Amino acid sequence: MRRMVAPGTSSLPVAARVHGFSYAIRNIVAEAKKVEASGRKVKYLNIGDPIEFGFRTPPHLVEAVARAMRDGHNGYTPSPGIAEAREAVAREFTTRGLPTAADRVILTSGTSEGIELALGALVNEGDDVLVPVPTYPLYTAVLAKIGARTVFYRTDPNRQWLPDLDHLESLVGPRTRALVVIDPNNPTGAVYPAEVRRALIALAERHQFVLLADEVYADLGYDGPTVPLGSLAPDAPIISFSSLSKAYLAPGWRAGWLAVGRSPRMDDVLAAIKKLADGRLCSPGPMQYAITAALTGDRSHQLEFRNALRARAEVTTTRLNAIPGMRCVAPRGAFYAMPQVALPPGRTDQDFVLGLLREAGVLCVYGSGFGTDPAGGFFRVVYLAAPSELAEIYDAIASFASRFLGR
Ligand SMILES: Cc1ncc(COP(=O)(O)O)c(C=O)c1O
Repeated sequence: MRRMVAPGTSSLPVAARVHGFSYAIRNIVAEAKKVEASGRKVKYLNIGDPIEFGFRTPPHLVEAVARAMRDGHNGYTPSPGIAEAREAVAREFTTRGLPTAADRVILTSGTSEGIELALGALVNEGDDVLVPVPTYPLYTAVLAKIGARTVFYRTDPNRQWLPDLDHLESLVGPRTRALVVIDPNNPTGAVYPAEVRRALIALAERHQFVLLADEVYADLGYDGPTVPLGSLAPDAPIISFSSLSKAYLAPGWRAGWLAVGRSPRMDDVLAAIKKLADGRLCSPGPMQYAITAALTGDRSHQLEFRNALRARAEVTTTRLNAIPGMRCVAPRGAFYAMPQVALPPGRTDQDFVLGLLREAGVLCVYGSGFGTDPAGGFFRVVYLAAPSELAEIYDAIASFASRFLGR
């Protein structure tokens, strides 16, 4: 007779790799919920979702998805995506100076899945990937999961948050497999000039590794859309990523794409990505139809959105730089700023951010969540709220900062 085993009470084990996977932008929400439970309202400036702040998805895109569903496009699509949307993406790159064939485009569940597929196809356990610091934290999280090493290259707040090219080159080693470039940048709002972009391409060519060009904010440069990195060198080993999440105001749709550069050196990488993409069947089907609609239809919302963001960036920079002990580089695109406070000795960026949350009800993310030194005093602000609301938030930040910094 089998003996009955009493249900255990101890936790079942989880994989070790999860311990290295950290995503501060969402992790910190648990703290905010505790503050809310104590009866205080919280302003969430932690996540870059324009919908949360009243911006609306263009109606013709909503209609394209609804129509696709009504027309019965509710099954799996081919794993690289539907042909018409892949062609629309390829035309878009080509129009922007990067000749691209539809066959080298893969539709993904947001930029995020593109990043994960590309790193999965390129990087072995123990390999190195060069990632900017501060960085969008998905890169470090995915690399931790793969068991690869994130090698941070500095971007410099004293030089508009541009990459420190000498530092970057000094980090290249025999196991370097890829260089991540986020331009326009989250979390700093930097937009890289052509000479910096050319230098990054030259570096990748010199050392023979792949450039991963995260261009999810390309249409949100305040001086107008930025051109794809690959347009500066169409034969360079570049994979470009973007989505409808930001500039088309549909982050929840998980509608993105990647394009692998045309160089035959990239053929095996493309095949590997396609192989991995087969395993996840496809990205959300009806939303793929919105990609065609987005890239072939009316984009007038983008001008309005950029103007709204520029005005918010202005309020942000002016107000934060007026706070004693704080400085903030003016963002040139997207909707993030990375101010720095002069921390009292022994205090960390987390102390500052948690204090701000608990005492002022404002949730930002500490810089160390993006890879900066905890003693550096950086934190990230998402400035999507209306300018009048931002002004109130910055008042609250100012009065908290004067207490915390003792100024
Ligand atoms: C730099 C960067 N890359 C990728 C993503 C993820 O975007 P998606 O919604 O397209 O997956 C974000 C989202 O905030 C981001 O800031």
